[in-house]
Amino acid sequence: MAQFSSTFLDELISRSDLAELISRHVDLKPSGANLVGLCPFHHEKSPSFSVSVDKQMYYCFGCGKGGNAFRFLMEHDGYPFPEAVEFLAQKAGMPIPDSKPVNPEEAARKKSGLELLDKVAGIFSRTLNSDEGKKAREYFEMRKLSPALIQKYQLGYAPAGYGFMKRCFGEDNHNLSNLESIGVLIKNERGYADRFRERVMFPIRDKQSRVVGFGGRILGDGEPKYLNSPETDFYHKSHLLYGYAEHRESVRKHKMLVVVEGYMDVLAMASYDLDYAVAPLGTAITESQLNMILRLLETPVFCFDGDKAGRKAAWRSIERMLPILKSEHSPRFLYLPDGEDPDTLLQKEGKDAFEKRLKEDGKPMLETWVLGLKNIAGDGAEGRARMAKKADVMLSTMTDDYLRQAWQGEIEKATEVKLSLQKPAQTLSRSKQPIARKPAQYLAVNPMKHDQFMAGLLQNPVRFQNLPDDAFDFFIDTHPIYPIYTRAFSLVGDEKNTELDIAAQLMREFPDNQHIARWVNLPIVDDVEFQQLLMDMHITYLNGLHGRSKDIGVKMRIIKELKTLQVQQKQFNKNLSHKESL
Ligand code: UTP
Ligand code: MN
Repeated sequence: MAQFSSTFLDELISRSDLAELISRHVDLKPSGANLVGLCPFHHEKSPSFSVSVDKQMYYCFGCGKGGNAFRFLMEHDGYPFPEAVEFLAQKAGMPIPDSKPVNPEEAARKKSGLELLDKVAGIFSRTLNSDEGKKAREYFEMRKLSPALIQKYQLGYAPAGYGFMKRCFGEDNHNLSNLESIGVLIKNERGYADRFRERVMFPIRDKQSRVVGFGGRILGDGEPKYLNSPETDFYHKSHLLYGYAEHRESVRKHKMLVVVEGYMDVLAMASYDLDYAVAPLGTAITESQLNMILRLLETPVFCFDGDKAGRKAAWRSIERMLPILKSEHSPRFLYLPDGEDPDTLLQKEGKDAFEKRLKEDGKPMLETWVLGLKNIAGDGAEGRARMAKKADVMLSTMTDDYLRQAWQGEIEKATEVKLSLQKPAQTLSRSKQPIARKPAQYLAVNPMKHDQFMAGLLQNPVRFQNLPDDAFDFFIDTHPIYPIYTRAFSLVGDEKNTELDIAAQLMREFPDNQHIARWVNLPIVDDVEFQQLLMDMHITYLNGLHGRSKDIGVKMRIIKELKTLQVQQKQFNKNLSHKESL
């Protein structure tokens, strides 16, 4: 992906007119400090979609989508990031600076590698249609894949023997080494040999539709049944999905996305015109793949075989998905009859019955999760206790506060056990983020207050400068808001940034975080409200700190501080009611 400098992107955002961009799709009317209209991302009758002209960000209070102009073009109009940049630059009349020459040699190598991958895909495809490919064509025919489909997905054939690539590219060592680097040759003591032999070939494309690797299936029986490219500079199996590039547009159009187990399921569905399936590449689904899926469509259907292995795979998907799940997402889980996959089922029951299954039989994730918990935990009071314990641990990996609370309530109902107050654990997705320099305290404040507090700060970043010293620790380091909050702190603390719009900067650094857009679009938090929030947050923080400290001297100091604050708060509220009654 092209790299753009942050100054360029900031300038571009500030010169773009988000309201104008959005009003091509949405009728916007002024309301308070912002513009509002009917959300273009979900169906609604009364407007919950807000655009902050001041901060150049939109947010829908109905469905939770939000962001800046880049985000809108990407999510609404389906532009890849570089093209969104290009589009806005053209509109603003700004020339695009030469993309940072990351390393010209590296870039050239990457380019030629991709060209080579494309060439190899072409060769496999031609071989399938040549005399050599007769058996493979028969195989596809047996599996009911039509020539048109074979062409659309550029399916191919790698013939028997170890020297096919040499036949195509010659013996030149430079060429052979390049072919090794893209994963189609293996180097051993005797030289270079073909990795894929006597297999039907499935080219695997990245998000930008470039061939980056291959899967190959053996004709008939044998081991391994499927062979995939090794990890290369181009092929990263845990970040790719088979069918993603081919089906992205269709998923958007049909609002259907089905996650299946393998290549043949994706293709079997496509051959029945159900061109909206994707599959991981021979490994259990990863968080990165789940992110791709949920970003493409909020309501994907995950298909699993109804056997034990299938249930295990479903469970793993649930575990991986919890940390990234938001309340806007509603994935569904569908168990197929024992021993069936979409391919076999389609051949048996046909398109309509299968499509009906997809649309009607998928169960919500929460239901599937609770069922899985019950299966693991077993019966009786002990079973319910085990279930609650396991659920507690899993809930603690969730990052959407609201969803976690809602699900916690459901689990409590199901188990009749009160779960301990969730202290979010360090999760996979957040483990990369900075660790607090000193232990922060968990803040048991109503999440609404967090929101208002953050809104107040981002709407008027000058307020950062007048926060008390210990405000830095208001959020524990595993709190979802923590990374943004502390980053905002350091941005404000940096003298160079006095002119900077903190919200815009944060949006750029946390492009996937929808909170920022929401905060700036919330109704204006005025100074009085902000003062009250700040005192509340501070008092709650000190209370927590008091509860946790062991040192009696420290405890005394905290109590003193608390007393002062409480007096201040009382005085503040008294003045306020006095003013109001005048
Ligand atoms: P399955 O063994 O269930 O095969 O593997 P399938 O998809 O039904 O394939 P067909 O219908 O027999 O052709 C499911 C998926 O697991 C991966 C592949 O992605 C496959 O599609 N897999 C399986 C491998 O990567 N290697 C293997 O050896 C087997
Ligand atoms: Mn199959």
